[in-house]
Amino acid sequence: MQITTSSIVLFSPTGTSRKIADAVADGCRCQPRIVDATYAEPVDTDFGADEVVFIAVPVYGGKVAPTALQRFDTIQGHNTPAVLIVVYGNRDFEGTMVELDAFVRNRGFVTVAAGAFIGEHSYSTKAHPIAANRPDMADFTDARAWGRDICAKLVDMTLPTAVDVSLLKAPNQSPASQLRFKEFILELQSQSNKPKPRIAIDWEKCNRCGKCFKLCPTQAIKSRTEPDIDYDRCIKCCACVKGCPCQARSFDTPYAPVLSECFAQRKSPVTLL
Ligand SMILES: Cc1cc2nc3c(=O)[nH]c(=O)nc-3n(C[C@H](O)[C@H](O)[C@H](O)COP(=O)(O)O)c2cc1C
Repeated sequence: MQITTSSIVLFSPTGTSRKIADAVADGCRCQPRIVDATYAEPVDTDFGADEVVFIAVPVYGGKVAPTALQRFDTIQGHNTPAVLIVVYGNRDFEGTMVELDAFVRNRGFVTVAAGAFIGEHSYSTKAHPIAANRPDMADFTDARAWGRDICAKLVDMTLPTAVDVSLLKAPNQSPASQLRFKEFILELQSQSNKPKPRIAIDWEKCNRCGKCFKLCPTQAIKSRTEPDIDYDRCIKCCACVKGCPCQARSFDTPYAPVLSECFAQRKSPVTLL
């Protein structure tokens, strides 16, 4: 195929999906245009048949992060080859890839490659690490190698041919950990009358630098100087928690210790071509 340009379309509040997409595109020897939907709906979202588009999203609750799908609503391909990348926090990506594939197919793309990679979980903390510091060197090596294979496939193809993304499965998880996590979810559901945890702020530590205001993808933080949160807009992505230079933000979720305990074993990326 004659590919003349490339783009990365992404939604990535804590930056791990973006890092993986960059590495895959780099391996593919592309210098892509970045269509960043993290902070607002992107403009200029029409893609031609001579273009390869890398589409990267995080997994939220085993699905595509809902805000990503809202922001991607205007993207339109014209039999455009797409490389789908989902990034998850070492638990599972469940139906995310199938959901993303259906979404892009409806918008004129052909999924020629699909990969699920691991990024540090948004809820990871020092006390409860979950895939801490990922993607790491090994992940970037895998992402670049896969990018090189994608490049070779694109050169060999005359017309874009779709892969069956339902074949992409997360690495096996020990039955004991799966059971423990299921029990935790059932326990949580039985306490549905309890108030849901929220992102908190320690006003003593906050120096009003405005970084969280800039980092919030849904404009839930009202202003630089009044960094309290509109909880109706907050998607709990933890961009403000991870990005705060004063550690003034925290998210005390019961998920963190359980995810840390059950999903401590390193998972490797899985890809389809
Ligand atoms: C609300 C929410 C739900 C999540 N659900 C899952 C999940 O179902 N499985 C999983 O492995 N990771 C899950 N994660 C972790 C993210 O997929 C992971 O941290 C990802 O690397 C974040 O991508 P980003 O850095 O591009 O924002 C969730 C994170 C958030 C904030």
